[in-house]
Amino acid sequence: MSGSGRLRRRVGVLISGSGSNLQALIDSCATPESPAEIVLVISNRDDAYGLTRARNAGIATCTIDHTAFPDRPSFERKILSALSEQGVEIVCLAGFMRILTPGFVEQWEDRMLNVHPSLLPDYKGLHTHQRALDDGADWHGCTVHLVRPALDDGPLVVQARVPVLDGDDADSLAARVLVQEHRIYPLALQLLAAGRVEVKGDTALIDGLTGPLSPDAVSQPKVS
Ligand code: GRF
Repeated sequence: MSGSGRLRRRVGVLISGSGSNLQALIDSCATPESPAEIVLVISNRDDAYGLTRARNAGIATCTIDHTAFPDRPSFERKILSALSEQGVEIVCLAGFMRILTPGFVEQWEDRMLNVHPSLLPDYKGLHTHQRALDDGADWHGCTVHLVRPALDDGPLVVQARVPVLDGDDADSLAARVLVQEHRIYPLALQLLAAGRVEVKGDTALIDGLTGPLSPDAVSQPKVS
């Protein structure tokens, strides 16, 4: 139960690597007011450091190695059964480096979030920081969105901008963006879990206002 006496939404997080976004989600769910509780972390790689972060927080983990399955649907069936065994209601993709089939994504419509290191719809896919630099962009950033079958597509929930500075390279820009990812992902999860995100067509409405929300527009998620 959350501090307000409501049941918390049960969250599963899918990772492949370091899990710094996972850590930000874990930290944000540690408060009694959080409407979300992380109940399971799944990695497709057993050497993902995020698994250690989850265990340190007392969260159940499992590794589902994609190379052990003959095809994507069978890999995803295993993920689905792990999520349903834990009663997961919301899925967060946090650096999960496998493409998901439309069949999987559609089962989690409006209940699955992803964080992407660009100001979507700009720079879908990989190497976002270098591509922004190559274009001479003045601004870059990150987005948390509801997941749709197309890559890095879906209603935008929260977006944070960072300036591109003279002398930036892809690493320095990525580091500045990552700080913002760690702000906006917890915020988006709390908003979704609290029932403050409504989807109309391709657009997310947050408290009735057209998204994406800027993290600077709210200091704390409202707790009702
Ligand atoms: C982040 O930059 C995220 O935007 C991208 O993969 C990276 C994952 O980092 N999808 P971490 O594993 O959360 O540290």
